[in-house]
Amino acid sequence: MKPLYLGSLLLFISHAQSILEVIQAATPPRLDLSTPTCKQYVFTHEFGNSYGSPYVGYYIPPPDCVYSTTIFNLSAASRGRQYDRLATLWLGDVEVWRTSTAMPTQTGIHWSFQKDMTIWDSLLRSQDPQKIIFELNNIIDGDRYTGFFNVTLEALYFDDVYEGKDGLHPAEYIYAISTRSSSNNTTSLFSLPGDSGVANLTLPRNTRTAVVSIMASGNAAEEFWFTNVPTEYINTFPENEGWLYGYSPFREVQLLIDGQLAGVSWPFPILFTGGVDPGAWRPIVGIDAYELPSFEIDVTPWLGVLTDGEPHSFALRVVGYDTSAKDGIGPIGENWWVSGSVFVWISETGEQTTAENFERDILSPSFDFQPTLGTRTAESGTVTNTSFYYTLTATRSLRVSSKITTGRHSRLVSWSQNVSYSNIQNMTDSAFNQSLKMVSSGTYSSSASNLVSRYTYPMNLFSAYKVQSEGATTNPGSVLCLVDRSKLNDGISILPFFTGTSVGPESLKTRQNVTSNYHWNSTIVEGTVGLDTMDGELWFSSSVSPGTRSGVQSYHHYAKEKDDALVVDDEGWGTIPVPSTEPLPVVEGEPEV
Ligand SMILES: *[C@@H]1O[C@H](CO)[C@@H](O)[C@H](O)[C@H]1NC(C)=O
Ligand SMILES: *[C@@H]1O[C@H](CO)[C@@H](O)[C@H](O)[C@H]1NC(C)=O
Ligand SMILES: *[C@@H]1O[C@H](CO)[C@@H](O)[C@H](O)[C@H]1NC(C)=O
Ligand SMILES: *[C@@H]1O[C@H](CO)[C@@H](O)[C@H](O)[C@H]1NC(C)=O
Ligand SMILES: *[C@@H]1O[C@H](CO)[C@@H](O)[C@H](O)[C@H]1NC(C)=O
Ligand SMILES: *[C@@H]1O[C@H](CO)[C@@H](O)[C@H](O)[C@H]1NC(C)=O
Ligand SMILES: *[C@@H]1O[C@H](CO)[C@@H](O)[C@H](O)[C@H]1NC(C)=O
Ligand SMILES: *[C@@H]1O[C@H](CO)[C@@H](O)[C@H](O)[C@H]1NC(C)=O
Ligand SMILES: *[C@@H]1O[C@H](CO)[C@@H](O)[C@H](O)[C@H]1NC(C)=O
Ligand SMILES: *[C@@H]1O[C@H](CO)[C@@H](O)[C@H](O)[C@H]1NC(C)=O
Ligand SMILES: *[C@@H]1O[C@H](CO)[C@@H](O)[C@H](O)[C@H]1NC(C)=O
Repeated sequence: MKPLYLGSLLLFISHAQSILEVIQAATPPRLDLSTPTCKQYVFTHEFGNSYGSPYVGYYIPPPDCVYSTTIFNLSAASRGRQYDRLATLWLGDVEVWRTSTAMPTQTGIHWSFQKDMTIWDSLLRSQDPQKIIFELNNIIDGDRYTGFFNVTLEALYFDDVYEGKDGLHPAEYIYAISTRSSSNNTTSLFSLPGDSGVANLTLPRNTRTAVVSIMASGNAAEEFWFTNVPTEYINTFPENEGWLYGYSPFREVQLLIDGQLAGVSWPFPILFTGGVDPGAWRPIVGIDAYELPSFEIDVTPWLGVLTDGEPHSFALRVVGYDTSAKDGIGPIGENWWVSGSVFVWISETGEQTTAENFERDILSPSFDFQPTLGTRTAESGTVTNTSFYYTLTATRSLRVSSKITTGRHSRLVSWSQNVSYSNIQNMTDSAFNQSLKMVSSGTYSSSASNLVSRYTYPMNLFSAYKVQSEGATTNPGSVLCLVDRSKLNDGISILPFFTGTSVGPESLKTRQNVTSNYHWNSTIVEGTVGLDTMDGELWFSSSVSPGTRSGVQSYHHYAKEKDDALVVDDEGWGTIPVPSTEPLPVVEGEPEV
């Protein structure tokens, strides 16, 4: 009897272990999530062949629940063969969460992620049912792409006491900069460059503070925008036609108010779970894959213009670098998905806000581009390109300020940004080998605080592809990928700060380095057991200034992964040292003679 019993126990254990938990490091939204005051399932939905068919339902807060904090817990399970997918969550016309999926295995994966939703309190608390839309465009086609995504969204409510100067004070109004299509049961994303990116909005006359929050990410020819080349270089290696995408590796997301630039973002480069090398991102996904970052622009200095009771245009635009344009600014490829929202706090006096001394100090970015083509001349005299090395650097400064009067109170407000960017690439082997050394960094300051906030995003990436002839079923391709990158933030999180969920500066240091060797056979989405190898390491350390005693002060996570498994997984309160991103070991071939 005993062996049989042991046998079935082992079977049980191995079944439980075969569901792989795929994680992203993130600061938990609260010290304890296990004892909510109230809790409800918002939806559970299976995304099969779901292109253009989002989940559409209604959100109503639980009746008679006394709460201040709302936390969403999004979970997903998948099994089979499938690409990574982007997904967006909407309350009406306002996008509140942009996420992406992990890539499944034949034995199944699972993940869950929690996000504090309290900044959207005025949308969430509405007693009129709020339309909730979750779009996850997935494809199931017979026996090739078989992975469904089963998604569950749960809401947890806590009655936290906020102890900041003004307690908890979420924005009174939130307006969408989107296509505003929820009445048609669809999401409201702008697809750039095709769509207008414009919404005309009328703000309350007594607006005291206004902040625009923007989500933007590149898809298709724009997914790896940071590895793109200036358009005139896409045919550098004619034997590898279609491999290089154009419009440069520089992108600027812009906010324009009545046609005038109000602020920019030089975006964080997201690597999705199918990105560069699908073997590199399991069981630890790339930084921010489950919660794509938004960025905020304080438009309070514009209130003199915006509080006249008339509609004003808020436009979102994405531009690239063009070597031949006078100001360097050029178009982009297809496509960027963008949306925004304007968070508005009003003054209790009810009087119209006025402003004087409105100043805009905005210069075009300055660019420096230095290309070097390596060539070889055959005995016949034929010249071919053997390498393409280039550096592109850019900087920009802008500042908008005014003196705002709300009621009897006057204050000087400003939005100021200094951003810089450097992108160095070397392409060899017809660009099948590509190395990238990129750093995007900057500072900003807003009307929230005198503190200057700063960020640095270094990324070193090398990939070497071997692609056999089309139609090959045995080892049609492989990729060696090395990536070492960090995300370092220090400063004020503008929306949580104005909301009162954060009362001071925050600091985040995270680094991820991965070496992966991936071989696909019949489809690129599935690797080859026995040939694939992966080693990775992740450091995450944060310190936060929560507005409530139930909030997290500091948190760390260190993990090490090997071949689809975590071999070290250490998380807890308190910070840890995070080593800096390092140059990659030399992986190019020998210099050619
Ligand atoms: C929109 O979605 C809601 C919620 O699922 C549903 O009740 C309604 O019938 C849908 N409207 C249309 C036009 O499909
Ligand atoms: C999130 O939801 C998943 C699935 O329902 C559940 O397993 C997990 O415990 C939840 N996490 C929290 C913090 O509630
Ligand atoms: C997804 O849900 C369906 C229907 O409930 C179920 O048959 C399937 O096993 C689920 N898939 C996963 C990976 O949990
Ligand atoms: C709803 O769909 C119809 C038909 O496609 C379209 O004409 C209309 O503009 C859409 N409305 C919104 C608000 O997106
Ligand atoms: C915004 O207003 C302008 C001027 O009235 C108008 O031309 C434009 O079509 C409007 N755009 C949208 C998206 O409503
Ligand atoms: C070498 O690269 C340059 C720049 O992309 C291109 O104009 C030229 O045609 C290439 N030469 C060959 C022989 O492919
Ligand atoms: C941007 O740079 C200018 C000039 O160096 C400086 O005066 C300003 O304080 C900087 N702003 C921020 C937000 O760092
Ligand atoms: C693909 O790789 C798997 C090993 O992971 C192997 O079992 C299978 O036979 C391969 N398929 C083809 C068509 O080579
Ligand atoms: C990550 O970087 C550290 C050096 O800080 C190095 O020791 C380690 O081997 C690297 N891991 C991988 C998988 O590249
Ligand atoms: C491409 O990279 C691979 C892997 O590092 C290396 O073996 C090969 O020599 C490189 N080829 C060239 C032309 O640089
Ligand atoms: C680019 O890589 C090639 C091949 O490894 C090498 O010969 C060349 O020196 C590299 N260029 C630069 C500027 O590093």
